[in-house]
Amino acid sequence: MGYFLNTTDDYHIHTLRSLGWELTVCNALYPENSPCRRALKSNASFGEHLFNFLGRFIPLTDLKNILEVGGGLGYLMQDFLTLAPDLRATMLDISPFLLQKQKETLTGLAVNFREMDFLKMAISELRSFDFVILNENLGDFPTLAFQQNIPEQNDPETVRSLNRVADFEKEYSLQFTPDENINIGALEAVEKLCMAAVPHIYLSEHSCETSGNHPSFPHLHFTAPGTPEKIALQGHTEFTIKFSYLQIIARAFNYEVFRGQYIDILPIDLNDKVQTALRSSAPLSDQQEILQHFIYDLYKYEYMIMTQDMKKKG
Ligand SMILES: C[S@@+](CC[C@H](N)C(=O)[O-])C[C@H]1O[C@@H](n2cnc3c(N)ncnc32)[C@H](O)[C@@H]1O
Repeated sequence: MGYFLNTTDDYHIHTLRSLGWELTVCNALYPENSPCRRALKSNASFGEHLFNFLGRFIPLTDLKNILEVGGGLGYLMQDFLTLAPDLRATMLDISPFLLQKQKETLTGLAVNFREMDFLKMAISELRSFDFVILNENLGDFPTLAFQQNIPEQNDPETVRSLNRVADFEKEYSLQFTPDENINIGALEAVEKLCMAAVPHIYLSEHSCETSGNHPSFPHLHFTAPGTPEKIALQGHTEFTIKFSYLQIIARAFNYEVFRGQYIDILPIDLNDKVQTALRSSAPLSDQQEILQHFIYDLYKYEYMIMTQDMKKKG
């Protein structure tokens, strides 16, 4: 039994030609006529919701340099630059295909584009940013995946990652159970952002620590496994994120941390259509299936805001 290093960089660099296979919440809410928008209290895009929500924690209009890592199709940044036109934005992505899509979406806006793996970015390069966004991509970063009956892996990256786990145990008193999958890339990413002392950071991803238990909708019920789960997707495998470990690292660097489920950012309107969809054990139409998946995601996704600005805004 042992660990192997699950990575997605090869897929993102060489294979990815569409995000359709993994419809992100941001993309699901982009079309104005999206059925998902009608399940929310406010008929707005993901970027608009997020911008308004973050304004409670971060002085968004005072910021200058913003970095978005893994911006997908660029919709979130399009909204942010519309709402705060003075922001100077940089989009960094490992995928040449998606970086090109971001260039198309953000045409005419003053944006820098960088094609690179975030995990290879130097700490010194991060220091110029006062806000960094990683929306729905921590699960793509390398994960030490536990598997019974595999021989010990001796490749340099797995060995390096296992050594890093030992560092994290020592530095931050993290305690990994002997067989849990370990989000080593996400841990390193958060540590790097903290070491660069980026004043404000927003992260989100599928979480292994959220649950759904709305009393009126038993079909929505799910419990939190507590350790990262495998998600098999088109051409690659991701893992859910154990945010409590990221929080421990952030607190060690004196960040104030706010965590919660996407339903805080995207409050649900329990109208008749939504209630009917949530009461059905099996969806009766495509639209019901879309709504069921979307609302499940609103409970399953977690966000984490890290800020060094100790005074919470109004
Ligand atoms: C699931 S998509 C999320 C896209 C977008 N943020 C959204 O919410 O719609 C993951 C994004 O992260 C990028 N990505 C994955 N691994 C990365 C890495 N190591 N460095 C930089 N970008 C990465 C992908 O190319 C893609 O743009």
